[in-house]
Amino acid sequence: MKTEILKIDRENIDTDAIKKAANFIKSGQLVAFPTETVYGLGADGINDEACRKIFKAKGRPSDNPLILHISHISMLDNLVEEITDKHRKLFELWPGPMTLIFKKSKSIPDAVTAGGDTVAIRFPSDQIARALITEADTPIAAPSANISGRPSPTNASDVYQDMDGIIPVIIDGGESNIGIESTVIDLSGDEPIILRPGFYTYEFLKDILSDMRLDDSLVDSSKIPKSPGQKYKHYAPKAKLRVFIGEDVPTHLLSEAEKYKSDGKKVGILAFEEDKEKFNSYPYISLGSRKDLSTMSHVLFSSLREMDRLGVDLILAEGVKEKHLGKSIMNRMKKAAANDVNFI
Ligand code: TXA
Ligand code: MG
Repeated sequence: MKTEILKIDRENIDTDAIKKAANFIKSGQLVAFPTETVYGLGADGINDEACRKIFKAKGRPSDNPLILHISHISMLDNLVEEITDKHRKLFELWPGPMTLIFKKSKSIPDAVTAGGDTVAIRFPSDQIARALITEADTPIAAPSANISGRPSPTNASDVYQDMDGIIPVIIDGGESNIGIESTVIDLSGDEPIILRPGFYTYEFLKDILSDMRLDDSLVDSSKIPKSPGQKYKHYAPKAKLRVFIGEDVPTHLLSEAEKYKSDGKKVGILAFEEDKEKFNSYPYISLGSRKDLSTMSHVLFSSLREMDRLGVDLILAEGVKEKHLGKSIMNRMKKAAANDVNFI
């Protein structure tokens, strides 16, 4: 299959290009599209057969449910069983990087929910994503547009790397702003539970719903996550990733790098902008300033992919404290590093 890249300017959306992409969705095919978090791999969310193509394209385990993307709150009515006033408080954060899980309505195909009785819904803020959903006139089922287990793509060329020859079209809308996936909150039980932390953090959400809590697995890593997708190998670069946290990490990274280099290994460094001079003699990608973690979340996945392109054997990275956005970032980093996270 030939994969077409359809460039669309977010500031000046070409409606013909959106129509073209929406026609692929309507005819049961897959379209990769930008969102403010990461790129999604979309299919018509009420077409079971189309949704099954997503699992095949990604090599995704069939027990891992999909998120349905909407472009208007009113689309919820057909998709979920019940909406309470408590749920509505969180709607203030929509459109945005938040996914809510509800008891599902009967109209949702099994492929979306992986046979379960709940459904995940997200109303993205990205203008291209919203235009596509509106034009396709259906909720769009979309996981991140990577091959399962790889870092989520945050730009069209990273999608192309994984999906070339597998899907007919990729919309190129530039870089995803946030860079890590949405915060997933389960609203199907008595109390709201964060299943996956994201740009909206526990500390922030607790101020909106005071009984908000974190899934047990996010507090104690020996517990099994409630969200199926959180159990799997994830975000892994081809190179081995080792993460270090604590006092004077840059000095430690440098001495580790020198050790590996003398063993003949090609080492790449992910560290904060403040310390970049230290790493002149290594492939290095800046995580932005340690005073503002939004750059780190923006570049995390793309820099793991870039390190693979640079052909490094090993990536040494500085991690962060697990609070606020740092908790969401470390959730991804730990998985990408297969838990090789070291406190020094
Ligand atoms: O930001 C995002 O959420 C991106 C963009 C494309 O919207 N999407 C995304 O999808 O990250 P995916 O499939 O890579 O991750 C969705 C997560 C998985 O961990 C999945 O197991 C969980 O949400 N999930 C989906 N439906 C669920 C449900 N009904 N119950 C529990 N977890 C669910
Ligand atoms: Mg994913």
